[in-house]
Amino acid sequence: MAEWFESWFESEEYLKVYKHRDEREALQLVESIISITNIKNKSKILDLACGAGRHSIEFAKKGFLLTAVDLSENLLNNAKVNAQNAEVDIDFIRADIRDFYIDDKFDLVLNLFTSFGYFESDEENFKVFKSAYDHLNENGFFIFDYFNKKYLEENLIPNSSLRIEDGEIIQKRRIEKGRVIKDIIIKKNGNEKYFKESVKIYSLDEIKSKLELTKFNIKDIYGSFDRSKFDESLSNRIIIIAQK
Ligand SMILES: C[S@@+](CC[C@H](N)C(=O)[O-])C[C@H]1O[C@@H](n2cnc3c(N)ncnc32)[C@H](O)[C@@H]1O
Repeated sequence: MAEWFESWFESEEYLKVYKHRDEREALQLVESIISITNIKNKSKILDLACGAGRHSIEFAKKGFLLTAVDLSENLLNNAKVNAQNAEVDIDFIRADIRDFYIDDKFDLVLNLFTSFGYFESDEENFKVFKSAYDHLNENGFFIFDYFNKKYLEENLIPNSSLRIEDGEIIQKRRIEKGRVIKDIIIKKNGNEKYFKESVKIYSLDEIKSKLELTKFNIKDIYGSFDRSKFDESLSNRIIIIAQK
């Protein structure tokens, strides 16, 4: 049977559920990253788990050279159309981030919007840190954007519903065995489809210690895309700027 992340990200409904995670939001984070890292124009960037390419495209529009990796054929096809519409050239690669390797080095590696914690074992989950490190030039930056455990636990919305054309998307969330689980029920034209998300919950300390074990220097931690400083009770995101 396919893993949850294979079925869900391959479905046409994923982009509908997350339609508010759009280019505007991506641009805000991209501008923050450029300002924080001071990365030079034409630098090489690797986007690990690029989805429909919203961050890669914003970087490419600003003159950076992008390689963008994802497992989902559906999202990569969307990304290619979006890149064409934006008139930018991006090297898209279909691969699993657990064993992705390319004989090239980058000035910036991205892992954005909780593209992390999907696998069963810690070993598999933290492979992306090693991959980011190995693909970076000396002094290059790794940007890691994940949820804040404390905020998630205190603010979890158990049920929500979203109207779509001809139907409804119902999302049920719970925390179970150290993972945040979301059941997604799509009701459309009298039919029902089921999907799931299951993401391992790591604390900031666990993430920091794994980054340091990978030999990254943690330069800064932000709590949102607008560059506000991380606050464990108030921030919904953990955005770590780590340097090789
Ligand atoms: C929450 S989305 C984020 C996408 C993108 N970074 C964004 O901000 O829109 C997570 C992405 O991880 C990708 N993904 C999931 N498992 C993967 C794997 N094993 N290897 C590569 N990509 C994977 C999914 O296809 C999806 O595009």
